[in-house]
Order: sequence, then C-alpha cells, then structure tokens
Amino acid sequence: MRAVVLVGGFGTRLRPLTLSTPKQMLPVNGVTMLERVIANLGRHGVTEVVLALGYLPQVFQEAYPTGEIAGVKLHYAVESEPLDTGGAIGFAAREAGFTDQTFIALNGDVINDLNVSQLVDQHKTFGGEGTIHLTPVEDPSRFGVVPIDADGRVEAFIEKPPAGEAPTNWINAGTYVLEPSVLDRLPEGQKISLERAVFPDMVAAGQLFAVQQAGYWVDAGTPESYLKVALDLVNGVRSSEPAIAADALIADDASVTNSIVGFGAQVESGAIIDGSMIQSGARIGSGARVVNSIVGPNALIGSGAELLDLTVVGDSFTVEPGTTHFAEKLPAE
Ligand code: GTP
Repeated sequence: MRAVVLVGGFGTRLRPLTLSTPKQMLPVNGVTMLERVIANLGRHGVTEVVLALGYLPQVFQEAYPTGEIAGVKLHYAVESEPLDTGGAIGFAAREAGFTDQTFIALNGDVINDLNVSQLVDQHKTFGGEGTIHLTPVEDPSRFGVVPIDADGRVEAFIEKPPAGEAPTNWINAGTYVLEPSVLDRLPEGQKISLERAVFPDMVAAGQLFAVQQAGYWVDAGTPESYLKVALDLVNGVRSSEPAIAADALIADDASVTNSIVGFGAQVESGAIIDGSMIQSGARIGSGARVVNSIVGPNALIGSGAELLDLTVVGDSFTVEPGTTHFAEKLPAE
C-alpha cells in the first residue's frame, strides 16, 4: 500500500515554533511528528510514501537523506506554490507515480493509533471512490462533520458547523483511502480543497463512504494539542516513554513534573517546570517557572521569568529575567 502524506502547510497556529521548522518536523518527545505518523503507516503495511511538500521542503530532505523512515520508502514532491489539500494530493500522487492503484492520503499532523489496514478493507467492501476515517469529538464546531447512513455512505460534508448545530459529533479525522479515479477530480496544477470542494462533489455523486473508528486521535496543529500529544506519551495517557533526555542537566533543587526535557537542555537551580515541553538545547534560568507552556530549541529563559498558560517561545529566543508571560507567543508575530 502507498500513501500521500500532506506536510506542506505553513503551520501558522504553531508559530513561532514553525518559523524555522515545519510543523511535522517538530519533536514529539524526541521523535518528529512525521516519524510517528509514518511508523503507524508502516505497521499497517504501507511501504511507500510521498511527502506533499511546500513550506521549508529542504528541512525534510536534509533530515532523511536515505529517503526512508522506519523501513518506509520516501518520495518528495515539492509544490512551487501551495495547491491546498486536494491540489497537493493530486500533484504528489502524480509525481510519485501513485496513479494506478488504491492509495491512502492523510494529514501529516494527526497523531493516532488508527487501524489503517482495516480502513482499507472496509473501503474495498464499500466499493466507492473514497473512504474517510471518522473520530468522535466533544465539540465538532472546529472540524468537518460527517453524517453517514446505515450503509456507511456519507450523507453530507459540513465544514466547521456553528456550535450546537452539528448533526453528529463524528468528524473527518484526516485519513482517507482513495481510488485513482479521484485524481480526475483534481485537475493538474490547480489549487483545490479536498474538504471544501472535492469531498462535497463525491458526496453528491454517492461515491464517498466513511468508517467510525474511535481510539487515540489528536490533531496536533495548535499549541494546546501539540503539547497534549507529547505529554500523553510520557504521562501514561497513551504510553510512559522516558520524558527527560539522557544528557539534559537538571539542578537537584529544580522541580520537573509532567514535562518533557529535550536533548542538551538545562534546568537551573530552583526552577519549576510543570505540564510543559522544554526542547533541545534550551536553558531555563534559576528560579524561572514554566507551566503549561512550550520552550523552543536553544531558547534562553532568564532567571525568575514566568511562562504560563500556553506561552510558546521560539527557536533561540531570549526571555528577559523576571518577566511574566500569559498565553504569549515570543517573539510576537
Ligand atoms: P495552520 O496554518 O496552522 O492552519 O496549519 P496548516 O495549514 O499547516 O495545516 P492544516 O491543518 O490547515 O492542513 C492540514 C494538512 O494539510 C497539514 O498536514 C498541512 O501540512 C497540509 N497542507 C495544508 N495546505 C497545504 C498545501 O497547500 N500544500 C501541501 N502540500 N500541504 C498542505
């Protein structure tokens, strides 16, 4: 089985972290988001992937010089301008030659334990042009909501319904099984949204099906969800991986709870880190407090500074000693 992985977006909601690093190359407890996504595909029999690249493509190409992740062969397709999700899938599938058999397409920022092989089997049973994975959420108003009939056929594709008006709380979870005929709906070089244009057309033609599969699922595109997906790996929600890198330096009287501390990071005397992610090479000065926040690689947090309430500090940024920050992006946009 072959897959197109969408990784070309600007990741604006995760700025400033994404100013230097594309979203899918951000670390999720020491392993990039992309590697975690591809490892799951590999577990379900995907042997070849094309990365649909646009923003900072060289970061991916340099990180995987052997053209392989977890035994899965990589192709690179670089758009000269953003083609949106549908256009990007069409461009990448054609570039990699994935045009003659059923393929998978997915958002590269969704972390899940999806049984991809089962989704493919169900797609074959339905016999339509496409099958979408659906996951349940409490508040569907931020997502594409997908009601289905008793046969699994999609009845409508409703992007971001007003709060309280969604007909179901099962949403488009960002993984699709598609027939090559879907490429005919994606004119070459044309910018087109899969969710807003292509899927509604497929619904109208009765060609789109969906499978409800609950289980671990997080769209890691916001600071809150990115932090959650990483902490879930270390706090037992999803697994209990080691959270502190072997070479991180943590002062004996510093306190680090429910947090990740990356390679080469330092936490100085009396600092308090709780519910946070400290990326590689960052330094947290003495007496600083970092709560429910993200400190980017090589950032310097001055002594006594406070980072609270989903503050996000970018690559190599310096936070002045003694300053307090609530829900801030540093540097600000
Ligand atoms: P924000 O800017 O924060 O909204 O994020 P995004 O646009 O990077 O991601 P979004 O969640 O909106 O998009 C879903 C997936 O499609 C992500 O994996 C993106 O990387 C990818 N994506 C979005 N637009 C494009 C595009 O024009 N080209 C390519 N190749 N990928 C895209």
